Amino acid sequence: MKITYPENFVWGVAASAYQIEGAWNEDSKGPSIWDTFSHIFGKVAKGQNGDLAIDHYHRWQEDLDLMASLNIKSYRFSIAWTRILPTGRGAVNSPGLDFYDRLVDGCLKRGIEPVPCLFHYDLPQVLQDEGGGWKNRDTAYHFAEYARVVTDRLSDRVKIIMTHNEPWVTAFAGYVLGIHAPGEKHIFNGLKAAHHVMLSHGLAAEAIRASARKPVKVGITLNLSPVYPATHLKLDFQAAERVHAIVNRITLDPLLLGITPLTENWFAKWFAPAFIKPGDLEKIKSLDLLGVNYYSRSVMEFGFQHFPLFAVEVKPADSEYSEMWEIYPPGMYDLLKRIWDDYYIPVSKQGIAMPELMVTENGVPVIDVLDADGQVHDERRILYLRDHLEQIHKAIQAGVDVKGYYVWSFTDNFEWSLGYGPRFGLIHINYDSLKRRIKESGKWYSSVIAENGFDTGE
Ligand code: FCB
Repeated sequence: MKITYPENFVWGVAASAYQIEGAWNEDSKGPSIWDTFSHIFGKVAKGQNGDLAIDHYHRWQEDLDLMASLNIKSYRFSIAWTRILPTGRGAVNSPGLDFYDRLVDGCLKRGIEPVPCLFHYDLPQVLQDEGGGWKNRDTAYHFAEYARVVTDRLSDRVKIIMTHNEPWVTAFAGYVLGIHAPGEKHIFNGLKAAHHVMLSHGLAAEAIRASARKPVKVGITLNLSPVYPATHLKLDFQAAERVHAIVNRITLDPLLLGITPLTENWFAKWFAPAFIKPGDLEKIKSLDLLGVNYYSRSVMEFGFQHFPLFAVEVKPADSEYSEMWEIYPPGMYDLLKRIWDDYYIPVSKQGIAMPELMVTENGVPVIDVLDADGQVHDERRILYLRDHLEQIHKAIQAGVDVKGYYVWSFTDNFEWSLGYGPRFGLIHINYDSLKRRIKESGKWYSSVIAENGFDTGE
């Protein structure tokens, strides 16, 4: 059966600065917390780092040519804050701005819509050292100023500016779990950081709208995961809902409703008033485009671990797993449908306009091998993308207005603390020669774009 997507459906690919650019200390770029973190032995697999990455900073033209050759319509990339403001605030570094200026022009020249994202984990090291990074409310104000500088330069050509990629990951992986930079482990600081990141979105949205030369949509990208109870027991259901609140509602509620689950959680509510100031939540609720990143689901049961959640993750035994996560395509539908039912329908009923909805990341790491003829036959990736796209189609049929889809990622790249192990790309990278090769999945995705759909084979 052939399935077709709505007219003007956006077909894109995504990437982020630290994961691809390299040139970590060129053209007066300042150090970010990821430069520091990856240089500490033991933080990243095999002692790898993003110093060179895939050298996109110097090879961006080749990369955009490849993108255009696949007919890709939109490129979501991130801007390295420390290229623009090497110390996070203060003097603007022109060569840094020039780089993104050329990248934006390079996209437009090739008929690719550039979608810059202002933050993808690489906080200026100076802001971390001086004020404690996202633990400090001032960082949110510095971020808004950075947003203003970028808007001033690019808003005559870009139609969308995304503020953050995955605020939850910034706060929890960086300040609670310690697996991302800056590598701290403190629940209270994590909650505080989460709020400051969200506040910075609101402040940046205000700055972008005030300084844009032409109307620009303000977007954000969230890591969301549908949470399922392991059994029908009420205790498991409640555990799943507690996790849903701390992983999904913590960002969705302030953005879409102007409220926060932090003031209702029995533990967090004692601390939240210390950092959520009057007026903050109203500021955060400022959004034109909601990006959903979906990779996998969570299955939870009640348990005494993970204070204060009392929820334990269960790994379903009869499921398939990639190098990183369970592969669960129906989760895409369930997630989109729940967001639609819980937020979009009730708020729209009040006559309030809701942001556009897109899937801004989805993809899978596969152990890719180069054949003797130099090809990568990554059937598993094609299957993953196809199954997830089918679920998006099903959601659209059910009334969820999904406007676009971005594959993570355009090329293989630096996968944070896992280094260069997991390969997510449509383009294979030889990490010795940095040679790029289009994988089978890249060709397949290109045909999907050309046909605005595909045959499900049923
Ligand atoms: C997302 C991140 C992205 C990449 C993928 C696999 O959480 O946004 O940088 O690491 O996961």
